[in-house]
Amino acid sequence: MIPNDRFNSGLHRWQLEILAAFDGGAGRLARFFVMEWHRRARKTTLALNLLIRECVEYSKRSYVYVAPTYTQARNIVWDDPNMLPAYLPTPDEMPCKKNQQKLHVQFGNGSLLNIRGAVKPDSRRGIDAQGVVFDEWAMMKEEAWIEIFRPIIAQSPQRWAMFLYTPKGINHATEMFDRVARISHGQPIPNNGLAGDCIPDWVASRLVASKSGLLTPSELEKAARDMPTSMYDQEIECARVTDEDRVLITSRMIDALRDIHRYLPETRRVISCDPSMGGDECVIYAGENTKIIDELILHERDQMKIAGHLAIMGERHKINTYIIDRIGIGKGINDRLAEMGKEVIPFCASETALVFSIWLRMGLLLTRQALRLSRCWKLSVAVPSFPMANWMT
Ligand SMILES: Nc1ncnc2c1ncn2[C@@H]1O[C@H](COP(=O)(O)OP(=O)(O)OP(=O)(O)O)[C@@H](O)[C@H]1O
Ligand SMILES: [Mg+2]
Repeated sequence: MIPNDRFNSGLHRWQLEILAAFDGGAGRLARFFVMEWHRRARKTTLALNLLIRECVEYSKRSYVYVAPTYTQARNIVWDDPNMLPAYLPTPDEMPCKKNQQKLHVQFGNGSLLNIRGAVKPDSRRGIDAQGVVFDEWAMMKEEAWIEIFRPIIAQSPQRWAMFLYTPKGINHATEMFDRVARISHGQPIPNNGLAGDCIPDWVASRLVASKSGLLTPSELEKAARDMPTSMYDQEIECARVTDEDRVLITSRMIDALRDIHRYLPETRRVISCDPSMGGDECVIYAGENTKIIDELILHERDQMKIAGHLAIMGERHKINTYIIDRIGIGKGINDRLAEMGKEVIPFCASETALVFSIWLRMGLLLTRQALRLSRCWKLSVAVPSFPMANWMT
C-alpha cells in the first residue's frame, strides 16, 4: 500500500486536513500550502509521504524536497531510518533506485524524488519540479522559492508547493502565513489547524502543542526543563518570539532577578583570564560563584608574566582553579599554569558549541531563578546578546 500502513494508520487530524485540501476531490482545492506547526508535529513525515505518493501515482515526473542545507537534507530524510527508508514502496509495489551521490530516488515508473539543500542555488538551477516541499522554511532564504522554484511551479496549474516550519521569529515564513491567512497586525492567529479565509489557491494551517496533544506530558515536561522559556514558547507553542526574546537569556530575565537572593547550592571559586588579542586589555577576575571578588587589568602580552600574576592572585584567595581562554597567547598561559600544578579547566571562546552550552545552562538557571548574577553592566549587556537562532539550525 502506498503510502504504507505505517503512515496511513497514524495520520492525525491536521495531516488529514492538509491531504483533503491537497486532493480536493476531482480538482485540487489548493496548490500552495503553508504550515506553521510545532516541533515533532509530523510535518516532515507528511511531506515525504505526499512526495512518495505523487512519484508513484504519476510517471516521469520530478519532485523536490528542500531542507536548509545539504547536510540537513541528508540527515533529516535520507539517513534517518524512520524517514525515507521507512516509507518507500516495497520492490513488488514499485522498484526504486536510491542514488547516494545525487541524493535522489528513481521510481520504476520513471519519476524522480530529489533531496536538496537550499544553500547552493546553482545546484538547483536546471532542475524540474512538479511539486516542491520546503522543510524548515523559516530557516532558509526566501530566494530558494522566489528565484528558483516559483517560475518552475508557475508553468502549470497542476504544479504545487508546500512550506513547512516552526517559527524562527518574525520573518518571511510568518509573513507568508499572515498574507495567505489574511491576518493583519494584532489579529488573532489560528492555533488549531486550517485558517478560515485564505487567499485563492492557498491553504494555511497552524498548530501549537497545547492544542494538538501530539507530544506526551512527559515530552512537554522535558522540553520545559531543558529549554529557556522563550525557546519553549517558540518550539512548542509556535510563539513568534521577537528578536529581543530570541536570545537564550533576555534582559527581562536578568531584571526579574533583582529581588531574588538565591545562590547556587555549592560555592565555587575560580580565576578567569581573557588574554589580550591585540593591543587590548588582559582581564583577570577572581570569582566566587557569580560574584567577582578580585580584578586585575594588565597591558601585558608576556605569557610567563601573566601566568605569574594569575598564580599570585590564586595564592591570595586560596584558589587553585583557573579558566583561561586558550585562543592566541592563552594556550601558553594555560600550559604554564598546568606546569605549576594548577587545575586548568579547558575553555575556548571561539568554540561556539561550548559557549552555547554555557549560555544554555545559564539560561536554564535564570529561568528557574536558581542563579543570582552580580549587577555587572558588562554582563547585562553581553549575556542577552547570544542569539538562539545560531543554535536551532
Ligand atoms: N503516526 C505516527 N505515530 C507516531 N510517531 C510518528 C508518526 N508519524 C511520525 N512519527 C514520528 O514522530 C517524530 C516527529 O515526526 P517528524 O519528524 O515528521 O515531525 P516534524 O514536525 O517534522 O518535527 P521537527 O519539527 O522536529 O522537524 C518522528 O520521530 C517520526 O518518526
Ligand atoms: Mg521536520
